[in-house]
Amino acid sequence: MGYSYLISANNPINKAQHKSIELTTLIKPMKVLVATEKPFAKVAVDGIREVIEAAGYELALLEKYTAKQQLLEAIADADALIIRSDVVDAEVLDAAKQLKIVVRAGAGYDNIDLEAATAHKVVAMNTPGQNSNAVAELALGLMVYAVRNLYNGTSGTELKGKKLGIHAFGNVGRNVARIAQGFGMEVYAYDAYCPDEAMTAAGVTPLHSAQELYKTCDIVSLHIPATAETKNSINYELVNLMPKGGVLVNTARKEVIDEDGLIKLMQERTDLKYMTDIMPAADVKFRELFEGRYFATPKKMGAQTAEANINAGIAAAKQIVDFFQNGNTRFQVNK
Ligand code: 3PG
Repeated sequence: MGYSYLISANNPINKAQHKSIELTTLIKPMKVLVATEKPFAKVAVDGIREVIEAAGYELALLEKYTAKQQLLEAIADADALIIRSDVVDAEVLDAAKQLKIVVRAGAGYDNIDLEAATAHKVVAMNTPGQNSNAVAELALGLMVYAVRNLYNGTSGTELKGKKLGIHAFGNVGRNVARIAQGFGMEVYAYDAYCPDEAMTAAGVTPLHSAQELYKTCDIVSLHIPATAETKNSINYELVNLMPKGGVLVNTARKEVIDEDGLIKLMQERTDLKYMTDIMPAADVKFRELFEGRYFATPKKMGAQTAEANINAGIAAAKQIVDFFQNGNTRFQVNK
């Protein structure tokens, strides 16, 4: 099953030639390209290779690339693509003449132009849940860092007994809730798409609007995807509802933040802190204005653990094999 070009009725080779020509000259194994500007841990790449080669496919690696042109060249003869936050737009899809499937090894797929993928007859998938514990652990780490005043030697506060608001109760949000409960936090959540029962079953108090969540909670942790609906939705008015000393933690996407609004608010309210794993476009301004109240990781680090890389990378490889061998499209995100 590991071949993209088998002898077919359209192939200009007669039956006699069929027998005499070595099969290996007629076949070309499926090529799976792993294109990661921010590479997986080596152990994850080894695991991906094992899955891909066991299926009889070929693995190609494009890691730490710095120019889009490198991706455009590497994708030219790939049948399948594994990416992380790497951008797959119409230009990449145009260059990908053989591509049948792209799998985002991770949760958010806002980096894939889904309409263009559909137009190019390319199946797009994600690997939901595979890296969510890693992101959740980092979110809690950012919370501790914030309430301990960025470890600057001054006396901070504890997470125990504080009210945590989880904005979107998906895979990451649920892991954040579980870990936060271990810290002894009171956990609340708001998610327009998640039934109350799922929250209460996890020991979380459901709230019914973002406003209610921000008004109630000392710390709010963002887990919303970047969509047309959510972009710039975390704005001046919403964050201003937070109680004195509020901390906003972002391990989701930078696009959901109205940066101008947040800057204006943090200038007015010197009690607020912003901790983010996705450096804002206005990082320099945030750093200059809010020393001690602002922190951004230099590179998105939430999913950057060996475990998350192994889970998401190998899931992506298995989904590709299952797609080619069985037509399984369970995790398809485009139509
Ligand atoms: C995701 O959407 O899965 C996370 O944001 C992790 O992204 P990354 O693979 O680019 O680290």
